[in-house]
Amino acid sequence: MTMRTVDLKIEDIAFGGKGVGREHGKVVFVPFTVDGEVVTAKITREKKQMAEAEVVDIKTRSTKRVDPPCPYFGQCGGCAYQHIEYPHQLELKSRQVRDLLQRIGKFKDAPIRQIIPSPLAYAYRNRITVHAEDGVIGYFRRDSHRLIDVEQCPIARDEVNRRLADLRERRVPDGHYTLRAKVDRPLRGRLNTRPQSASRHFSQTNDGVANALRDLIIELVPPNQELLIDAYCGAGFFAKALMGKFQRIAGIDWDRFAIAAAKENATAKETYIAGDVEAGLRSALQDCDLQKTVLLLDPPAAGLTSQVRETILDIAPATAVYVSCNPATLARDLGDLRRRFEIQSITPLDMFPQTAEIEVVAELRRYN
Ligand SMILES: C[S@@+](CC[C@H](N)C(=O)[O-])C[C@H]1O[C@@H](n2cnc3c(N)ncnc32)[C@H](O)[C@@H]1O
Repeated sequence: MTMRTVDLKIEDIAFGGKGVGREHGKVVFVPFTVDGEVVTAKITREKKQMAEAEVVDIKTRSTKRVDPPCPYFGQCGGCAYQHIEYPHQLELKSRQVRDLLQRIGKFKDAPIRQIIPSPLAYAYRNRITVHAEDGVIGYFRRDSHRLIDVEQCPIARDEVNRRLADLRERRVPDGHYTLRAKVDRPLRGRLNTRPQSASRHFSQTNDGVANALRDLIIELVPPNQELLIDAYCGAGFFAKALMGKFQRIAGIDWDRFAIAAAKENATAKETYIAGDVEAGLRSALQDCDLQKTVLLLDPPAAGLTSQVRETILDIAPATAVYVSCNPATLARDLGDLRRRFEIQSITPLDMFPQTAEIEVVAELRRYN
């Protein structure tokens, strides 16, 4: 195979973190670049429509480029943006959300609010999962299932890194290890005062942004409602913060550990059901006053299945709030849901600085 070298102007950074250049019109993706830079890159994979390349030399360096603090950056599969100053990471993520809504959801002019930054650009993760194999403890390498030995991770909180150091001192069997910081400061929900060692289920990773996310959801949900359906509720992180606005709350999640945690401190108005949203959503929507029902959706990265979207379009509640950890599937789903809902606002949040991940909240109001 030929391993050509090309000079490229990086026009943009695509969702996922790769710089986008063009060679005779063909898109070339180059990771670890900054928009505006001119780079020399070696083509590593070439297809008809596009190519992948790796930087060999930076000919014109962006003023937004900074030195990545982590020695594993570039090899580790975790971070994509340590070489870009934080304010520009925020600009890129906002732009990526707008572009995905345009390209996939066909929204010409989505009402995108300003991105909510993370109070901490590093040392924010309250948990990490590392893998152990043949004496190596660390993360997966970029584009590979091989491990990179990681002594410490700068996006994890100090306490998590201390746990990593402890783990590395022991001889541990091969496997996955989730290391968590203890909750040192009770967040507002009572839920978070539980010892974290018990949480085997999903939990928010960046406490500062999780608080901002919860405040945003409280702001978007109208008061004096009858029913909250919290679909993909986990341990009830949102439901428990929204109690004051509802007479009844119904949470659905198929993780029985999460449901058990949600039930632990539940009041009489909360019901939590362990089951598939696809199976349970229709009946939850059927026996309520749709005018005074709010549907909260916080699905995994794959987004909503077509069946869940059909159910929502068929039995549409007056208000829906969609929390997404993947703007591409969000754009697809909103493109579909817009048949019955007006998209009132879109708010990106930077839950995962230095990485390519983007969290987004969409506010939907049914057309009457
Ligand atoms: C992004 S987490 C959200 C959790 C919760 N809202 C929170 O903030 O802690 C997604 C949740 O969806 C659940 N889940 C994924 N697919 C599901 C399905 N088809 N039916 C029910 N729950 C599902 C997972 O167990 C997980 O708890």
